Amino acid sequence: MRLSTWLDENHRLPRLDLELLLCARLKLTRAQVIAHRELQIDQAALAGLRRDVERLNNAEPLAYILGSREFYGITLSVNPAVLIPRPETELLVDLALKVITPGMRVLDLATGSGAVAIAIAANCESIELHASDLSLDALNVARHNAHQAGVELTFLESDLFASLNGRYDLVLSNPPYVAENDPHLPALRYEPLLALVSGSDGMTALTRIIQTAPDYLVHNGVLMLEHGFDQAMRVQTLMRESFHDIQTHPDLGAHDRVTTGRRK
Ligand SMILES: C[S@@+](CC[C@H](N)C(=O)[O-])C[C@H]1O[C@@H](n2cnc3c(N)ncnc32)[C@H](O)[C@@H]1O
Repeated sequence: MRLSTWLDENHRLPRLDLELLLCARLKLTRAQVIAHRELQIDQAALAGLRRDVERLNNAEPLAYILGSREFYGITLSVNPAVLIPRPETELLVDLALKVITPGMRVLDLATGSGAVAIAIAANCESIELHASDLSLDALNVARHNAHQAGVELTFLESDLFASLNGRYDLVLSNPPYVAENDPHLPALRYEPLLALVSGSDGMTALTRIIQTAPDYLVHNGVLMLEHGFDQAMRVQTLMRESFHDIQTHPDLGAHDRVTTGRRK
């Protein structure tokens, strides 16, 4: 079957998703897929593409079907043990890169696929970088991703700060922050609940981090937290007790997304 025929047959699905599936199955670049619609798809590739389309029709995220997602210009492997890194989380990396200086001790708490830590490692020299998560399966994905990206950092299994030692100059985290009954959860059913949900109002992990982080930060050390678009005021209120210079930063969609502060 020709590429053009297959694309026409599946025209109800997003064209970009279909083209990326073709790239993966036929080992072609997107430019080749666009320029050579006359190419033939062999039987083995066609069978694989049929399975891929079935998964897309079941609303499975393209990143899990392809097994990868790009974050901060780095290709990361993903599987259902990890949250698919979101573009808005790149803000956390942008903010971190503005404050990191050589010699700093930095922690990415709840690292998942390792996205944030690996992006930082790829853009910073001479820092001591730790990345932690409660999920061993997620840490295995993160270790693989760090290896693939050619960066070195230390991965630690820990329930938030419970198994961590010493003080950091910067702690950053994109923790789970979705409320248990959030109406968007059914659409996210392929991703791990541990990575998404945190109590009845989505604030459990954020609250625990804000209350415990002062014991793991140096004086004037920075805490950076990603949160839901409607959680900034609650995060700021919780931070006021132990932090100063508290600021909330909008993402590219103009939603309040990351709140930062310095330990008093
Ligand atoms: C929203 S995901 C973020 C993953 C990654 N940082 C990113 O931005 O793509 C949250 C992560 O928190 C981890 N997690 C959930 N509860 C945790 C806990 N109590 N301690 C440590 N990690 C936890 C999950 O396993 C998941 O990997």
